[in-house]
Amino acid sequence: MTLPLANLPVSRRYFLERTALAAALAAFPTSSLLGCGDDDDSAAGMPLSAEPGSPWWLQNNFAPVEREIEATDLLVRGSIPPEINGTYIRNGSNPRSKRSPHWFLGDGMLHAVRIENGRALWYRNRYVRTPFYEANVTFDEALEAGLPPFAGNNQSNVAAIYHAGKLLTSGEVGAPYEIDPVELSTVGVHDFEGRLGTSFTAHPKIDPATGYMHFFGYGFGNPYLTYHVADDRGELINTQPIEVGRPTMIHSFAITDSDVVFWEFPVVFDFERAVDSIIGAFQWEPEYGARIGVMPLNGRGDEIRWVEVEPRYVFHEVNAYRDGDDVVVDVSHHPEMFRSGTGLGNSDTSLRRWYIGTAGTQLTFREEIVSDLELELGSHDRRFTGRPHRYGWLVETRDNPQTVDLGGTALVDFATGRIDIWEPGITRHTNEAYFVPGGPGEGEGWLLTFVHDHASHRSVLAVLDALDVARGPVTEIEIPARAPYGFHATFIAA
Ligand SMILES: [Fe+2]
Repeated sequence: MTLPLANLPVSRRYFLERTALAAALAAFPTSSLLGCGDDDDSAAGMPLSAEPGSPWWLQNNFAPVEREIEATDLLVRGSIPPEINGTYIRNGSNPRSKRSPHWFLGDGMLHAVRIENGRALWYRNRYVRTPFYEANVTFDEALEAGLPPFAGNNQSNVAAIYHAGKLLTSGEVGAPYEIDPVELSTVGVHDFEGRLGTSFTAHPKIDPATGYMHFFGYGFGNPYLTYHVADDRGELINTQPIEVGRPTMIHSFAITDSDVVFWEFPVVFDFERAVDSIIGAFQWEPEYGARIGVMPLNGRGDEIRWVEVEPRYVFHEVNAYRDGDDVVVDVSHHPEMFRSGTGLGNSDTSLRRWYIGTAGTQLTFREEIVSDLELELGSHDRRFTGRPHRYGWLVETRDNPQTVDLGGTALVDFATGRIDIWEPGITRHTNEAYFVPGGPGEGEGWLLTFVHDHASHRSVLAVLDALDVARGPVTEIEIPARAPYGFHATFIAA
């Protein structure tokens, strides 16, 4: 796609300076996420369909579903654990027009399953009714349609978040939306009573001790990064600009019980590159440097301290915590990202543990490689967000140059280093594993993930024992429609 910035109307430049578009590009990294056009069909795993002219994100189970449906009393194989009472809701990209410049730039669609007392009561899928959806325009057509993409003008397609009694969706670009958790109808833009002046990350963190939601937004104009806190009633109580040198893509961050951790890595937005391509405007510039910052939880932006590290890229962490003078963060590490074009390239992912020393006047940094398996989309028991954790769950990605090829579900025991993986079979693909508590201890509970079989074209919501993932699903709930591969989920209990 081409976006001629040289002749930009003021509104487009304004949007670029105010929003964080590329986040949408960042929601879903894998070692094999390439731009379209690679016709190597030698890889095992998920094939492309017989539409060589169509990009991978419009084919197979990436293709959008055309209908919004609802179904009741879903078929259940196995028994649904009694602790799972609530609604599972997952967001994803589903271009209404069936056209999209990238997988990450389709209209947000929610897929939800309601579970009560051992029964799967209903399934429902609904678009987020954004102005882009209503106008039926793609991301790159929005401006011409009079919808400069900032504030509510976004696709709200990356994450579902539940906080202070509200279900929110985030596209990482612009403001979040509030959604009715039963009907999945769109209530409207949620801008914290007009006080949110930045974008809203797809990865806010809710402190389990206070119920406060910590989040950030990034954009193209100074301040490029802004930290926010909403209290347990959902009121925005703290907004702090964070000084950084240039606009970079920052997809997630972490908290401990006393710290906020940002990582600013060298995927840099450049206005000149945006002349040719918005997507290509974010590129790998290792000379910009890489740094990790720590500031007090709910503190001031000018209290942040940074430590320089070797260039690398991280989209997703598993969790973080404070251990004495160290801040410990587990992350999926990519040696580089967005080196050229729209492709993310083969990035040789590894799971790493950071130790950020905070005792001296200067932060220190060291890291360990936990595993060199290709593991991404980390999740944890959110009762332990920001607290010492033993377990993490991630999605194994398969080496497939044609497309994103999600494989099995991995349980990482950080205490022993042991990794157990449920490999669902070469035609089956998991998504992010969302943890639902089932007992008092860390990890005692269940994982929920959509699983799609590209051979049978069937989708299920699988339930795995979080501490025994290798056993495979204890329950599968049939989804009466295809649930395309998507992004991030939440679960509203009771
Ligand atoms: Fe993400």
